[in-house]
Amino acid sequence: MTRRAVVVGTGHYLPKRVVENAEFEATLDTSDEWIRSRSGIERRHFAAEGETTSDMAAKAATRALADAGLTADDVDAIVVATSTPDLTFPSAATMVQSKLGMTRGFAFDVQAVCAGFVYALSNASALIASGQANRVMVIGAETFSRIMDWTDRSTCVLFGDGAGALLLEGQELAGTNKDRGILSTDLNSDGRYKDLLYVDGGVSTQSTGHLRMQGNQVFRHAVEKLASTANTALDRAGLSADDVDWIVPHQANIRIIQGTAKKMGLSMDNVVVTVQDHGNTSAASIPLALSVGKERGQIKEGDLIVTEAIGGGLAWGAVVLRW
Ligand code: UT7
Repeated sequence: MTRRAVVVGTGHYLPKRVVENAEFEATLDTSDEWIRSRSGIERRHFAAEGETTSDMAAKAATRALADAGLTADDVDAIVVATSTPDLTFPSAATMVQSKLGMTRGFAFDVQAVCAGFVYALSNASALIASGQANRVMVIGAETFSRIMDWTDRSTCVLFGDGAGALLLEGQELAGTNKDRGILSTDLNSDGRYKDLLYVDGGVSTQSTGHLRMQGNQVFRHAVEKLASTANTALDRAGLSADDVDWIVPHQANIRIIQGTAKKMGLSMDNVVVTVQDHGNTSAASIPLALSVGKERGQIKEGDLIVTEAIGGGLAWGAVVLRW
């Protein structure tokens, strides 16, 4: 028998304000056509003034609890993947804990930029497997609109805000790759590439800063590293791409998503795509896609899912789970 981290609830939250590509045409030398054809993005949501990452995270978590038929008292730990916390400290996770009215357990943030949710799932799975927590709320939540340089057309049209949450529960299962739950993970980073995607500010440099990206350089790394980490994680679980029902990728660019599926020998019919409606929501993109994919009726119990993501660091990784 093996203790597996099984998904028992999902939820997501998107801020009300929807910004279509055409809105950028008024202030930037860009076009709906360029944004659509180079990235696949058609629109994104932006948080309202005063709306924070923990506000959105708490709403997604509340929906995941309702989906599971559980309350905050049933949760042992909260892990929030974010690079855009409300404050320098305390963690966004402890703010979510307070917003949910949860007075026990523990909460912390994970920061691995766009790969953050994959890192958070891997950590949560380890907490459950080692018996340190039984139910873990894993949230990806971001307000990237706060770190955009609105004069930089090469970045500000790509990102959006939102939050998604998965409630994981420890279950004693057979220990085979037919089990539900997280079956394997693969995490990587390579700090030699830290200058390809970064924010030019932070606490010890005394500013908030703006996101800077050499998009075409990140693109070059993405397809190769994503297909490789997904295949490594599948291999670790004794599975192959043929076993996969759904790739649920980080939603940065439709061309990266298509290239990765192709490299893995899978059709786009096996991919959950939300990039057109959400833009790149960094650590929130995978839980948003999982929650939306379930709502659309694409993802069903028993499906084999591989999630994969890459972002600033560079940091990248994959998680294989059976829904
Ligand atoms: O989530 C974290 C990981 N991030 C990613 O995975 C993002 C990876 N990168 C990408 O998605 C793509 O590289 C972008 C969508 C960012 C850019 O697409 P690209 O095909 O790599 O274009 P490019 O950066 O090579 O730029 C091509 C041209 C340039 O003009 P010149 O130098 O050829 O004259 C840019 O100045 O497109 C220009 N350009 C734009 N034109 C209109 C850049 N941004 C825009 C824009 N509107 N918004």
